[in-house]
Amino acid sequence: MNYCKWWWQREDLCYVEDYLFLGGQNLHSLAHSAASPCYVYNSTRIKQNILRIHCALQEASLAHRIFYAIKANRNPSLLSYVRSLGLTGIDCCSPSELLLARQVGFLEEEITYTGTSVSNDDLAIIARHPGIFLNCDSLSQIRRLGQLAPGREIGIRVNPNIGLSYGANPKLQYSGYKTTKFGIYKDSFLEALQLATQYNLKVTRIHCHSGWGFLNKQLPVFETLLNELCWYIDQLQAPKYINLGGGLGVPIVKDDSPLDLEVWAKLIAKYFAPRNLEVFVEPGDYIVKDAGILLLQINTIERKQNKVFVYVNGGCNINLNPALYQLPLEVVPVILHTQNNIDVDLDWMQVTIAGNINEAIDIFAEDIYIPPVKEGDYLAFLNAGGYGSSMSSNHCMRGIFSEYLIYNFQK
Ligand SMILES: Cc1ncc(COP(=O)(O)O)c(C=O)c1O
Repeated sequence: MNYCKWWWQREDLCYVEDYLFLGGQNLHSLAHSAASPCYVYNSTRIKQNILRIHCALQEASLAHRIFYAIKANRNPSLLSYVRSLGLTGIDCCSPSELLLARQVGFLEEEITYTGTSVSNDDLAIIARHPGIFLNCDSLSQIRRLGQLAPGREIGIRVNPNIGLSYGANPKLQYSGYKTTKFGIYKDSFLEALQLATQYNLKVTRIHCHSGWGFLNKQLPVFETLLNELCWYIDQLQAPKYINLGGGLGVPIVKDDSPLDLEVWAKLIAKYFAPRNLEVFVEPGDYIVKDAGILLLQINTIERKQNKVFVYVNGGCNINLNPALYQLPLEVVPVILHTQNNIDVDLDWMQVTIAGNINEAIDIFAEDIYIPPVKEGDYLAFLNAGGYGSSMSSNHCMRGIFSEYLIYNFQK
């Protein structure tokens, strides 16, 4: 078996002899000892992902701050690790996320907050954290915040009608051509500024989170978006920051071309360096997605009509994205049956991977090819570090899983 075949292989994620390793950890041993579905995160990869973003922005000579979007993964060990790095703040979208960020040690001035459907109860908690970077996404929120905390510095989340997403998938866009619930549109923006003035709120930031998972192919749209955001910035009296949200993607299938961060950062510099703005970014998925793997065990392999189903001991409730957004998924065996003969040619099987939830959508991947597997084997679901555990539920009372952080002291 030629190991170079694996497009996703990298130094910290690869087969050693017949076993899949992540961050030096044999995943077969880990899955066996965990005795339940488990997520495994490689801390070193998380650090590398953060540093890659920093370097790109630094090389483009941009004053910048990174705020890790906690919604992507709020595992306490992972959060403590990210805190210990001291390289990022936290982006949050709810009072509970805000309080969790504070509990793991982030200071108010290291936190951005951009909510949706913000209630008065939410605002009361936000008001008790005057140091956070708050972005308002509706006229109503500006008015109610102004009544509660006049004089505060705020940002405005805008919706420029330009959608940015993996494969241009409209379901993954927050500000595409379809009217969405997010942000303030151009036709209401000047009214938003007037309202802010009425309550003496100082608008120093424009915020825009446009969509999920964009890669190189979407960079031309990204540039159009940046150009459009300049209009909003230019309406402010004393702008200090531009917040570009998250949405940076990582390859999830072989043909995806990775996001070129150098080009990405240079585009940002082209539009905002001349305006002397500090750039905020709020990546979630980019930081944790490819650092995490979900390990599930095969309990049944059975042909049904023309399909071979491989059934595993976890379902869409613990890893929702493939079913929710029909996103492709890379699933690989944790152990290869080659008897350590790297030259052996395996007969790949065409299979459909099904979970253990009684829902028709509970299919992880359909008609994909994988090397031979047997009942009892473990499968690794790659790129599962973001929006897996954090979006999980106890549907069908099958919500139990464990989470492991791999920590390498020497790295
Ligand atoms: C306001 C905001 N910022 C950042 C993010 C993080 O996005 P991603 O994980 O795609 O980088 C999100 C995701 O929904 C968001 O809504």
